[in-house]
Amino acid sequence: MVDFSTQRIQASTVIRNIGQLVTVAQQPVQGATGLLQVLEHAALAVHEGIIVWIGPDAATEPLFLQDASVDADGITLIDAQKAVITPGFVDSHTHLVFAGDRAEEFHLRRNGVSYGDLLAQGRGILTTMNATRKADTHTLLTLAQARLDTMRGYGTTTVEVKTGYGLDIVTEEACLRVVNELNALEADAIEHNNRLRIIPTFLGAHSVPPEYRERRVEYVDLVVNKMLPSFVSLARFCDVFCEREAFTLEESRRILTRAKELGYQLKLHADQLSPSGGAQLAAELGAVSADHLDHASNADLDAMREADVVATLLPGCSYTLRSPYPLARRYLDRGLTVALATDFNPGTSYCENMQMILGLAMSAMGMTLEEALTAATISGAKALALQDSIGSVEIGKRCELAIWSISDYHEIGYHFGVNLVKSVVVQC
Ligand code: NIG
Ligand code: FE
Repeated sequence: MVDFSTQRIQASTVIRNIGQLVTVAQQPVQGATGLLQVLEHAALAVHEGIIVWIGPDAATEPLFLQDASVDADGITLIDAQKAVITPGFVDSHTHLVFAGDRAEEFHLRRNGVSYGDLLAQGRGILTTMNATRKADTHTLLTLAQARLDTMRGYGTTTVEVKTGYGLDIVTEEACLRVVNELNALEADAIEHNNRLRIIPTFLGAHSVPPEYRERRVEYVDLVVNKMLPSFVSLARFCDVFCEREAFTLEESRRILTRAKELGYQLKLHADQLSPSGGAQLAAELGAVSADHLDHASNADLDAMREADVVATLLPGCSYTLRSPYPLARRYLDRGLTVALATDFNPGTSYCENMQMILGLAMSAMGMTLEEALTAATISGAKALALQDSIGSVEIGKRCELAIWSISDYHEIGYHFGVNLVKSVVVQC
């Protein structure tokens, strides 16, 4: 529970005059209401990047601002101007590093060509692979930085970034280095209080590259024996596209088992286009999340729940591929933790905007606002095994917030097609 006593608290920043603080707290917060634990007329205090106090705005002054035991000059005061504040979005599934685009394929699909057909013709992911292999590192970095800036502008504060458009050891490594460099460059954003956290994922098993088409086992050997051991220090997660057109269940098991032995945490693209066994494999190997899951059976979902695997749903793909949206009730009512993410990529979801994803989840997947906001924040954090440090506004968590230009959070999802976020605030 929040401590409203008048004990002095050391803080470097106090954010005051918050109209609605949507905490998404996992524990009850004194004075807060509803599933999202919303505090009206609130304030919060931060010290060394960690939230140290949350409470009524009226209670701040004796605590922080008018006491000799606190150096008032040392406190940065931020006036939220009655805005809504939520946790920053945690976008737990993106393919941010690539060159080129696939607008042509997007429009071919409007004329009836399927995503699977394009992949089988050596297009799709391989179109982007060709463009990415040709691009120099500087170009890849610049493109990715611009996309990150867009994400930040729409309220995202943590982004998982996968490789998977290099598909050879040199380009996969170059892409991973770009992801790590993005993180290093974000240090420059510290002084603007809007630094993004970037989580790198190795997805060398995204598609079999054309030079290995007739000897795919050798590509799996390359991933298992060369890429995985070389990239341990560059990626936190390993992911596999387990699908008829990509990697079989057995290939996926082999890659992920080795990855786990090497210390990677696991994710899977599972049961997206057809039933692949991916969700069961995620449960078997203790993956942190299994993503897509459009074709996962109820038994698959039960196995995931028992193994505490997060179900990440990606409605941007349904929008782009014009395929049925995953119905959220099926996952939520079975007791799964459901996360929402953009799946930002040039083929199936060319969208940086988590507000759009929330809107789709509410309009097409049957999620409530409370479920969608939870899925895009604390459950996204759980999909990255970061739920103890980010994803909600709670004492002890990092201060990573979205400040909205609205005064009532019920406008989220309702007022659509515009950016309702003013800025993010990340204290380091
Ligand atoms: O998550 N399904 C596999 N990977 C991506 C699509 C990548 C692409 O088409 O470039 C996805 O949907
Ligand atoms: Fe994906």
